[in-house]
Amino acid sequence: MILPIYLYGQTALRRETEEIEQGEIDVKQLIADMQETLTQAEGCGLAAPQVGLSKRLFIVDGSELGEDYPDCADFKQVFINPEIIEESEETSTYSEGCLSLPGISENVIRPKTITIRYQDADFQWNEDTYTDFKARIVLHEYDHLEGHVFTDRISPIRKQFVRGKLINIAKGKTVARYRYKRN
Ligand code: NI
Repeated sequence: MILPIYLYGQTALRRETEEIEQGEIDVKQLIADMQETLTQAEGCGLAAPQVGLSKRLFIVDGSELGEDYPDCADFKQVFINPEIIEESEETSTYSEGCLSLPGISENVIRPKTITIRYQDADFQWNEDTYTDFKARIVLHEYDHLEGHVFTDRISPIRKQFVRGKLINIAKGKTVARYRYKRN
């Protein structure tokens, strides 16, 4: 089932998220719904708060980026109860967008390499290290679990620049090409 994506201004995007215990919710169904939602919206990642759930889960799917970033083409993964355990001092800067912030893309500085500990769809613990664009996608989605969106991380000057756009989204004046929930 395609779920509505919560847009900027919805409190779900700012709430604290809870760890998921195995069996507590139908995680397989949630993942299937989120994957369907992400595919129809043509995004590369989706976090549970973006569908109104304050849970520590996100999915990534790099296939949309496969043409420009061949190493992302098969980057399809579920992250449950993730924890970033290492971040490189070396950073990279790249323009990001977000399905919850339609029409906005801005440069964000992030660590170039990260190590993350997480449970997969079967609740098995894994530890993986990602670099470049994979690390960026993971960190962007991880931010959603912490109640952050990418515009929290842009320069004060750029924040000023996108302020009007953010207000418009929060006021429900922005439309997106996918199913969404707004004020
Ligand atoms: Ni996002």
